[in-house]
Amino acid sequence: MLPKLIAHRGASIYAPENTLAALRRAAELGATWVECDIALSACGEAVIIHDDRLDRTTSGSGLVAETRFETIRQLDAGSWFSPEFAHEPIPSLDEWLSCAAAFNLGLNLELKVPATSAELVVEKLLQSLERYWPHGYSRLLISSFVHENLDRVRQADSKLPIALLMHAWSDEYASRLKSLNCASINLSYKSLTEEMVKKIATYELPILAYTVDDKEIAECLFDWGVTGVFSNDPCLLGDAIR
Ligand code: G3P
Ligand code: MG
Repeated sequence: MLPKLIAHRGASIYAPENTLAALRRAAELGATWVECDIALSACGEAVIIHDDRLDRTTSGSGLVAETRFETIRQLDAGSWFSPEFAHEPIPSLDEWLSCAAAFNLGLNLELKVPATSAELVVEKLLQSLERYWPHGYSRLLISSFVHENLDRVRQADSKLPIALLMHAWSDEYASRLKSLNCASINLSYKSLTEEMVKKIATYELPILAYTVDDKEIAECLFDWGVTGVFSNDPCLLGDAIR
């Protein structure tokens, strides 16, 4: 069962995105699900960060994919947001899963890597889930704009719940929706109209829209038939969050 609100990159208007502080804050504010972005370090370790580069959200610079894990782990991913979060590290995927499990949160894990890294990221994902995710196939969605990553997930595991992630719907995606046996359709709320939601709803899957920080927009989307929204603010819907 997917929620009406998924905390986008954690409670990312209250704490630095994609850090354990943002994950904890999301849980404290009543979120039941959290989204994060997964990248690979130079040595192939899975870490939680949105951008290809370290520059915007950390004290480091350069490409995540060209930086050693040991270096990444020493960076400060909190000070750019507020001095209150100084020295907050970039989490590993293992830490993210453990912390989410401790707070009983559901997770949307978005794979940010290019198709050339699909095999490695899926190998790392499955290893981490096996060790640190206690819920098996439940309370979990794996998504990616890079659909080759999702193909690889499905090749490796026939049951992991996959969300087809797109900027906007196109009928060309229908065959992939079926071949991947998707659990949800995730796309930008900006691409949606009432007519478009009705069309997508014919596939009879939950529809999740990103990234919505305006309550009126969220309510309009729900009226149209959208199942849930990704929001930087876990408090957006008030008591309706669950
Ligand atoms: O998965 C929804 C959303 O996170 C996709 O966009 O760029 O915020 O990762 P982005
Ligand atoms: Mg994301």
